[in-house]
Amino acid sequence: MIGATGHVGGFLVPRLVLAGHDVVAVSRGASAPYREHPAWRQVERVQLDREAGDADGSFGRRVAELGADVVVDMICFTPASALSLVEALRGTGTVLVHCGTIWVHGPSEEVPVTEEARRTPFGEYGTQKAEIERLLLAESRRPGGVPSTVLHPGHITGPGWPMINPVGNLDLDVWEALATGREVVMPGLGLETVHHVHADDVAQAFQRAVERPAQAVGESFHVVSERAVTLRGLAQQVARAFGQEARLEFATFDEFRAQRDPASADASWEHLSRSHSMSIDKARRLLGYAPRYTTVEAVLEGLEWLRADGQLTLA
Ligand SMILES: NC(=O)c1ccc[n+]([C@@H]2O[C@H](COP(=O)([O-])OP(=O)(O)OC[C@H]3O[C@@H](n4cnc5c(N)ncnc54)[C@H](OP(=O)(O)O)[C@@H]3O)[C@@H](O)[C@H]2O)c1
Repeated sequence: MIGATGHVGGFLVPRLVLAGHDVVAVSRGASAPYREHPAWRQVERVQLDREAGDADGSFGRRVAELGADVVVDMICFTPASALSLVEALRGTGTVLVHCGTIWVHGPSEEVPVTEEARRTPFGEYGTQKAEIERLLLAESRRPGGVPSTVLHPGHITGPGWPMINPVGNLDLDVWEALATGREVVMPGLGLETVHHVHADDVAQAFQRAVERPAQAVGESFHVVSERAVTLRGLAQQVARAFGQEARLEFATFDEFRAQRDPASADASWEHLSRSHSMSIDKARRLLGYAPRYTTVEAVLEGLEWLRADGQLTLA
């Protein structure tokens, strides 16, 4: 697993170990796993820096030399990086499971959005991930190509880091306002949607893709919670979890922007302008994916962690 100690790896590595797989965890080794778990004692840790290895052309070869049956790639962001890994893996029989993003889709047209929807990504991140998806699915069809699967998570949520809030950014004050009955200014009508997924549900989908190559190879899958939420729906449900009714004030996006710092307003715009609401029917059908967390359950678990960590004051 490349990028094994992050949000998803913290859940996926223990899952794979407990299922009896031999796991090699690749990272720079700069950070400890997000979640401590006894399973890490059975994991081989390999220190590689992908950026440095991509720059000098050694990264793909070093990964191929590990001789894995499956490579799970969590941290590939450019087609060039994907291609150099694929070129190193050709002929080895290794299956590649790549982490994409629902941002391979631009603004939602028909919802829930299916994997077959025409790709209209915007912004460097989503555009490059869409190009990587195209490249890997074509690679799978190519005779002698690396059999590949692409999983597209929504907003990854869980204990250990801040998650997208009901105004579409990571600002913690919004959660505090909802939990303590203070007013929240929302952009628009609050009817745009966001689609979270708990990190353990992402890990579940990866585990299933790893264990079911016959169903997964050559396909891409959305990996999100059962249903997206509207921004006002998320606000109301979180407020109620703290015994409050959300006090929501609605503003034009420009008015909203004027009250937030530019980076937060930009993050909100990135989410609102896509308004994703994704279908998981395909992952359900082919992988047996069954998310354990609703969006609100995932968010509440993350909030509890932030509170316990002293980052949030929730009444
Ligand atoms: N965050 C979201 O809401 C979201 C939504 C959809 C899709 N995604 C996708 O999720 C993936 C990220 O997964 P994640 O959130 O589990 O990761 P993460 O929490 O950001 O962790 C990154 C992992 O990669 C390692 N890493 C970082 N830079 C590295 C490098 N140059 N060389 C080798 N290892 C490196 C880190 O360990 P070291 O620091 O020790 O190297 C760590 O293990 C990305 O593909 C992203 O596009 C994220």
